[in-house]
Amino acid sequence: MRPPQFQKAVLDWFDQYGRTNLPWQQDTGAYPVWVSEIMLQQTQVTTVIPYFERFMQSFPTVHDLAAAPLDDVLHHWTGLGYYARARNLHKTAQHVATQLKGQFPDNVTQLIELPGIGRSTAGAISSIAFKNQASILDGNVKRVLARFSATEGWPGKREVVEKLWLIAETLTPLHRIADYTQAMMDLGATLCTRSSPSCSECPLMSSCVAYKQGNPKDYPGKKAKKKLPVKTAYFLILRNALGELLLEQNPPMGLWGGLWIFPQCETESELSQLYLRLGVEPGSQAIQAVKRHTFSHFHLDYQPIHATMLKAGTSPALVAESSNQVWYNPQNPLSLGMPAPIKALLANIA
Ligand code: ADE
Repeated sequence: MRPPQFQKAVLDWFDQYGRTNLPWQQDTGAYPVWVSEIMLQQTQVTTVIPYFERFMQSFPTVHDLAAAPLDDVLHHWTGLGYYARARNLHKTAQHVATQLKGQFPDNVTQLIELPGIGRSTAGAISSIAFKNQASILDGNVKRVLARFSATEGWPGKREVVEKLWLIAETLTPLHRIADYTQAMMDLGATLCTRSSPSCSECPLMSSCVAYKQGNPKDYPGKKAKKKLPVKTAYFLILRNALGELLLEQNPPMGLWGGLWIFPQCETESELSQLYLRLGVEPGSQAIQAVKRHTFSHFHLDYQPIHATMLKAGTSPALVAESSNQVWYNPQNPLSLGMPAPIKALLANIA
């Protein structure tokens, strides 16, 4: 699909299905367009509508906004979140009112200089308010274009977002630019949604590469998962003469707080001490393959070691009735709180 066909498909769709009743579409002067674009940066259309209407009632021009106390502006923002947007709005209003005689710049280069206006917001203002051939690339449009072109990679990466900007600019028309900008936003917001794209209703379906591949939801790519650090541990599965297994209760706070686990340690020398403390029969140890349990912030590679206890009476430290130790009978299990890896090991033994 060449740019003219792309533009025609998008604009024909917009004529039939695009949104035309949004309050900021009624007056497309730079001031209301700017206010709405800032409000819409991190916030959904339905949330923004009443805020936008109250804001324009209280501050109908950029001069009114510039003259208002910041507290008053912030008060109008209460509940919208990301309050830096309101502070920047006020700062920019004062700059435009005093330095620019109330006139917003019409081009992206100068708009970007103003506090709170990034490249995509500048493109939206320049195209909607001034009808310049300027491109946008907000979250919705990134999704549409990443799918349409099957551009790989996470758009938080510079190379990826630069590719998408290039595509956006290549496709941006000279004519009906304001409608085109709105159409691309609407397409992303209503059809090309993150988790359930309505491809069969999409005017771009026949040329969408991700659709042809059958995997539109794989675009845009996600941020690469951070590599988690790996910690290691030995789990001692100690068996007494009755075939019962020793479990110890963790202290209430911290990892696996209050849960029952096999005696464990991190290093080999700690392991030797553990053998002494619990009275492990020398030479009885059998090593099982290392297994991995993944927490949110690290992997735990644990090495289960099976061993039997010295004959009764020769165990130096084990307190049979200690409140944080139990002999667990796999044939007749107690209901104790246990973390998944311990449960799995016990299930294996039983
Ligand atoms: N999101 C950002 N700008 C928008 C606009 N003008 N209309 C609808 N949603 C938007």
